[in-house]
Amino acid sequence: MIKLVDVESEADMLELGKRVAGQLHGGEFIALFGGLGAGKTTFVRGLASALDIEDISSPTFNIVKRYGGKLHLDHFDCYRLADYEELFAIGFDDYLSSKSIVVMEWCELVLDALPSERLEIHITGSGDDIRRVEIIPLGAVYEKLIEEI
Ligand SMILES: Nc1ncnc2c1ncn2[C@@H]1O[C@H](COP(=O)(O)OP(=O)(O)O)[C@@H](O)[C@H]1O
Ligand SMILES: [Mg+2]
Repeated sequence: MIKLVDVESEADMLELGKRVAGQLHGGEFIALFGGLGAGKTTFVRGLASALDIEDISSPTFNIVKRYGGKLHLDHFDCYRLADYEELFAIGFDDYLSSKSIVVMEWCELVLDALPSERLEIHITGSGDDIRRVEIIPLGAVYEKLIEEI
C-alpha cells in the first residue's frame, strides 16, 4: 500500500517527519527522493526532533553525520557522491547492520546501493508549492510501519 500526503507547509513537513519517527525502533532505512529544496532535510529535522535530536544540518560535505538521541540517527546526503562505491568505502555496510535509524537524501543517485527493504519517501514540489509526498513501503516491516502514519 502506498500513501499519498499533501504537505502544505514547512511545519507540516516537520510534523510528517515526527509521525514517521514515532513508528521507528532502530534498524530502519528511510530513503528520501526529491530535488533541491523539496523538503528532504526538513523532513529529517522533524524526524530527528522526535528523537530529541536538534541542530540537524545538511551533511552534504561529509556524506554522513551520526547523531545520538533516544535512538541513533545516521543522516546521509548523497548529493556530492561520485558513485555508490564511495558509500561502501566509508563503511555503509556497518551503518546498515547497526541498530541506528538510517535516513538518506538523494537516493535516486545511489539506487543500486539501497537495501532492498526500505521505506521510500518521494517528495515533489519546491519553493512555495504544496509538496506531494508519496510513501512507499518495500518489505513487510515497512508495510506494517506505515499503517499508523
Ligand atoms: N510544504 C513544504 N514542505 C517542506 N518545505 C517547504 C514547504 N514549503 C516551503 N518549504 C521550504 O522549502 C525548503 C526546503 O528545504 P530543504 O528541506 O533543505 O530541502 P532539500 O533537503 O530537499 O533540498 C525550506 O526552506 C522550507 O522552508
Ligand atoms: Mg537537503
